[in-house]
Amino acid sequence: SWTPDNFVDMTVAELKEKVGNDKVVLGLSGGVDSTVAAVLLNKAIGDNLYCIFVNNGLLRKNEFESVLKQYEGMGLNVKGVDASNRFLKELEGQSDPELKRKAIGKVFIEVFDDEAHEINDVKWLGQGTIYPDVIESISVNGPSATIKSHHNVGGLPDFMKLKIVEPLRMLFKDEVRRVGASMSINPELLGRHPFPGPGLAIRILGDITAEKVRILQEVDAIFINGLRNAGLYDKVWQAGAILLPVNSVGVMGDERTYEKCVALRAVESTDGMTADWVNLPYEFLQKVSNDIINKVKGVNRVVYDISSKPPATIEWE
Ligand code: XMP
Repeated sequence: SWTPDNFVDMTVAELKEKVGNDKVVLGLSGGVDSTVAAVLLNKAIGDNLYCIFVNNGLLRKNEFESVLKQYEGMGLNVKGVDASNRFLKELEGQSDPELKRKAIGKVFIEVFDDEAHEINDVKWLGQGTIYPDVIESISVNGPSATIKSHHNVGGLPDFMKLKIVEPLRMLFKDEVRRVGASMSINPELLGRHPFPGPGLAIRILGDITAEKVRILQEVDAIFINGLRNAGLYDKVWQAGAILLPVNSVGVMGDERTYEKCVALRAVESTDGMTADWVNLPYEFLQKVSNDIINKVKGVNRVVYDISSKPPATIEWE
């Protein structure tokens, strides 16, 4: 019968057989799938697995540094590449959601291809593709999705001509988590909410600037840490904050303010295809709203999204 331990033993043996002494390059996203795929490959081929973790400048606050440290602590041969400025530059003046996604996909592929070229004689591309991705051929998360939906732009980059190795392609998400747990991957990492590949870019409605990213990172961190501290994080499937292209009037002391409005979103779901908004306690929302308005300069209003999917999507863009 299927057990995570059996799966690990069998898969590691298969990977050794298949890959031999070849080198593999793999893009880590900070998400569950790419992480579990990397740890499996690392067990099989050690430092012949070259992991690349790209900072697109659109991750959560401190995420790049803290996740990179965790990867290093797990013994992965990983290179962190901070390409924030390249992404921001490509996004300059873009306010259409699909064009923003395209811009991010394009830069990701360029950065990843540059990094793959640095590895001498790499033969394989490792990916964290899971079974639902195989069926839908569009993945919800991670670099693999970005790559798939954008590889037709301007011919195939060299890394896409590599042979592909996908150790999780027969697994569902809950099985991936169990496999990860059986390899002692940090439960906090395995239990993380899904996070979209384009990151905060699709939660900043309209065009993106470094200042807007900073504001949203602060707001998001207060919300997510608040969920953790209140013991609500694991009761929610996905949560995040959205920076609206709206200023509204407020008062501070004797002064009239005219500042930004943020929306908070938290949903319950099993696969992201449908979702219900979560009935978070009023006291929790009250505290988080106060914290955000008191601590984040430039925000004077917080609203909570009470729309379910369908017809509203989880993301606002
Ligand atoms: P929607 O907004 O379509 O989101 O209800 C469903 C799930 O997909 C994620 N999402 C994305 N993930 N690239 C990704 O990697 C994207 O462009 C993208 N758009 C939405 C979203 O976060 C949710 O989990």
